[in-house]
Amino acid sequence: MKKTEKRDTFSSKLGVIAATVGSAIGLGNIWRFPYEAGEHGGAAFMLAYIIFVVIIGVPLICSEFLIGRASQCNVHHAFKKLGDARHKWHWLAYLGIISSLMILSFYSVVAGWTMEYCVQAVCGTFAKTTQSGLSEYFNEFTSGTARPVVWTLVFLFANYLILRKGLKNGIERMSNIMTPLLFVLLIAFCINSLCLPNALEGVKFLFVPDFSALTPSVLLGAMGQAFFSLSLGVGTLITYSSYFKKDVKLVKSASIVATLDTAFAILAGLIIFPALFSFGMQPAAGPKLVFEVLPSIFSQMAGGSIWAALFFFLLFIASITSTISMAENSISYFAEEAHMSREKATMLSIGIAMVFGTLCALSFGPLADMKIFGKTVFDLFDYTTANLLMPVCGIFFSIFAGWIMDKKVVRNQLTNDGSFRLPVLRALIVCLRYVAPAAILAVFVFNLIF
Ligand code: PHE
Repeated sequence: MKKTEKRDTFSSKLGVIAATVGSAIGLGNIWRFPYEAGEHGGAAFMLAYIIFVVIIGVPLICSEFLIGRASQCNVHHAFKKLGDARHKWHWLAYLGIISSLMILSFYSVVAGWTMEYCVQAVCGTFAKTTQSGLSEYFNEFTSGTARPVVWTLVFLFANYLILRKGLKNGIERMSNIMTPLLFVLLIAFCINSLCLPNALEGVKFLFVPDFSALTPSVLLGAMGQAFFSLSLGVGTLITYSSYFKKDVKLVKSASIVATLDTAFAILAGLIIFPALFSFGMQPAAGPKLVFEVLPSIFSQMAGGSIWAALFFFLLFIASITSTISMAENSISYFAEEAHMSREKATMLSIGIAMVFGTLCALSFGPLADMKIFGKTVFDLFDYTTANLLMPVCGIFFSIFAGWIMDKKVVRNQLTNDGSFRLPVLRALIVCLRYVAPAAILAVFVFNLIF
């Protein structure tokens, strides 16, 4: 790593929360959570998800935060600096960087869909379309060749334009305004959904668990969703927290991020499922779920096209604050370890995502039959990152913070050099050392055996 450069930091505590929450909140909450919950039995999935957020999510956010802020460098160098360089801890960084580029690739496809839907909403397309028309529209659009690819590339190019300028101001300021706005809008849609006929069925689906539905694959899906939604296990949070100032309280920030992120996911569920049951649709529709259900809700509302356009625009913003955090992971690595200029590092990261993003975008059309392990490229990237790579990295991040790092450094990071008492310190260390790694491992083993 170059030693002469002074590292950037976020300008305020609010900026830290806004950027980290911006990374966490995105398509994972509004697009992925409802479709995963829909496929995995609703309430049982949500219950497992919330338990994983508490026992694995919050401790792991803390572990990434303290690794990042203690090291003040990119994810690769962080492990070299804080661990014993003879041991290969920095290999975790490679795994994290590969995962973040894989996520960036398929995520950009869905973000591209939000752009298409935003434009179509402005043109009033959804106002005139029936339920089956919406389904057809989605299938026709995503199975095409040019449009899904072009939107993916346009979205990635927008990332490039933001990222090459360096980390923050624009993004920090943008997320300060857009994230609260998205929240307000979600509440408005939620109220609207809950007033639809038969809405209670949807609420029950999300909140009344059928424990017999808690199969190993539901547990794996819920754990993967917790990792995905909290941006865990790829090193993104290590990279971001390397830009934190000394006075940021790590555990408090981690708890705020986890709470807000979960609130967004539940709100999204409370929009989708009541509407879904009201319109008599299937919860297990997969990735297309949100894109078919939401426009139906909008078309029932006065001024529906405006609501729809606003919603998809905000979803696009929520996506971009997540994707820049994914890309920042590899950019800081390429720039600091391979001594590239920020411009070149950005070009390389976005370029890689453009190639794989194109393959993912074509997975719904021309490449739908190209299956690897029975999955399309899109599904493969989605499934392996959330359900395998992120949790595996999570085990090791947790072990690294709990066992390998100098105890004094850990304590100092968590209490800002002893400037306040942290009542949960011991419990947190126990979670990092035992509970989180054991829980992740247990879910894997459970899946292999049953
Ligand atoms: N947490 C983001 C979301 O929910 C996705 C993400 C994953 C962001 C990994 C960064 C790293 O949309």
